[in-house]
Amino acid sequence: MAEVHEIADGIFRISSFGPQAPLEFAQFLIKDERPLLFHTGQRALFPDTLAAVKSLVDPAAIRYISWSHLEADECGALNEFLAVAPDAEPVHGQVGKMLSIDDFFDRPVKPMGDEEVLDLGKNKLRFLITPHVPHAWDAILVFEETTRTLFCSDLFTVFGKPAPVTESSGVEQAIEALKQLPGYLPIGPHTGAVFDRLEALRPKVLAGHHSSAFTGDAVQALRDLRGEMYKFAGVR
Ligand SMILES: [Fe+2]
Ligand SMILES: [Fe+2]
Repeated sequence: MAEVHEIADGIFRISSFGPQAPLEFAQFLIKDERPLLFHTGQRALFPDTLAAVKSLVDPAAIRYISWSHLEADECGALNEFLAVAPDAEPVHGQVGKMLSIDDFFDRPVKPMGDEEVLDLGKNKLRFLITPHVPHAWDAILVFEETTRTLFCSDLFTVFGKPAPVTESSGVEQAIEALKQLPGYLPIGPHTGAVFDRLEALRPKVLAGHHSSAFTGDAVQALRDLRGEMYKFAGVR
């Protein structure tokens, strides 16, 4: 079964290692009046992810499901989750909606505007439309304002099985991974504009899809990652 760790008050990291790649795949459940799942994981992981979700909430109580961008590890099991969560709405950004991503899913996607906030009860989820960060035109990142948790998707990706929660930023390992995956993250002036916004949020927790939940100095970690990504890509 997937591992479950609480990374902030009421926010649970559900993680599975591999088997499609030597990576950890972390999905997040925000347990609130209106529970939200961020990332579904691939369809192959669905039985494991569902079992972990069941240990936290009744899956039928899930109200929203969201993800960063259209990829199997982000939203591959969305239809499977919609089948067990009759009241769940898929939620994504306006760009994704414009690209008709809801053609893939069994229920229409609720579009959120840039900086629009979804009220889950105690938790308030701010949607950031971030085309090509981490990658893909439809990309979004989301920020939970009560716990100051930034769901940063593929930023900080590392190979191997990272600790569930850490105060070590892993920037060095993330750049090592980037070197092995040329073309993984497009890096350019658009990257800096998004990092400016992420740093201004002053997050307390960075909840990555393929990295530890980082509880150290998040602003510094974002600055360091941006700097190293720029160096790697030769962006000045
Ligand atoms: Fe991705
Ligand atoms: Fe990913």
